[in-house]
Amino acid sequence: MPLHVGLLTGGGDCPGLNAVIRAVTLALVRECGARVTGIERGFEGLLTQRTRALAARDVQDILDEGGTILGTQNRCNPFRDGAMGEDHSAQAMATARALGLDAVVVIGGDGTMEIAHRFAGLGLNVVGVPKTIDNDLLHNDRCFGFDSAVAVVADALDRLATTARSHARVMIAETMGRHAGWIALEGGLAGAADVILLPERPYHLDVVAAQLRERVAAQGHAILCVAEGSAPAGGSQVWQPGAEDSPRRLGGLAHRLELELAPRLPCEVRATVLGHLQRGGRPTPFDRVLATQLGYEAARCVRRGEFGRMVALRCGSVATVPLADVAGGWRAVPADHALMQAAAGIGVGFGSTEA
Ligand code: F6P
Repeated sequence: MPLHVGLLTGGGDCPGLNAVIRAVTLALVRECGARVTGIERGFEGLLTQRTRALAARDVQDILDEGGTILGTQNRCNPFRDGAMGEDHSAQAMATARALGLDAVVVIGGDGTMEIAHRFAGLGLNVVGVPKTIDNDLLHNDRCFGFDSAVAVVADALDRLATTARSHARVMIAETMGRHAGWIALEGGLAGAADVILLPERPYHLDVVAAQLRERVAAQGHAILCVAEGSAPAGGSQVWQPGAEDSPRRLGGLAHRLELELAPRLPCEVRATVLGHLQRGGRPTPFDRVLATQLGYEAARCVRRGEFGRMVALRCGSVATVPLADVAGGWRAVPADHALMQAAAGIGVGFGSTEA
């Protein structure tokens, strides 16, 4: 009997998911004649039995396609499903058995890896593939999707700079990233931001204003790039109002800062929230290659029978790490990160007096 492998994408989408789906499917079909089944809308597909067969021809042309052909969502956790938080994991396990799956490749972020880890504990043969534009998964140097998001931020800052210059304004751009500042840091550097605010470094409004005033005095305008999860020292993050049953969402800090900074600056201030533009669209060549590498390694893990692990990029090489070490955690920007030092060294402000 050929191997039968399930494949699902969980959590928020990001550019490169289809490249992984393609690599896993092609490698398994070509190298061991495996049968591959796509599970739709993340773990929900294991509860609703929404699946579809994936043959080589289904994935051949999706390398550069954004999003995920399988659909995804960041709400379904079979271990606490529905309004009452019931545990439907046994039902999901029963579907996997009924489908005759020998293994399931799970592509997702920290929440998805935590669920994958719990399924591994129930005896499901799982291999994880790290995904998130936030780039905040533990034991993994770079997630696919991150490079594409950074490219969007850099392009946005380039565009904001020309209008900032024309109007002699301060422009604020808010990036995603949840509790980690990777997107704002790399996007801000790539887009020549004058001041960058990160969740890892609480800011002081007066210092932010002073750093921007200095840049406006020197060049007539300034760009402030803020990670959505940033907060003032001793203050709180900005959350979006949302429906009661939906997960809490960060967002809106740029607008708060626009109001707070305007009276402290000698020029007008405008805010732009980049939002889901950072998640949509085609993956960069870097992300296509990384996603292909990781997908291929996940297929190799399945063939080796190496389960309960996540493939990862570590020090430039593809490796695997136990899901247990990744589940539920996240990776912050370290205060002494080389990019922080380089940014500070060329005069980028972080809105605080810390070195
Ligand atoms: O984790 C990825 C991410 O895009 C975060 O950066 C952001 O805070 C969140 O997802 C947005 O989630 P949603 O798509 O549910 O609004």
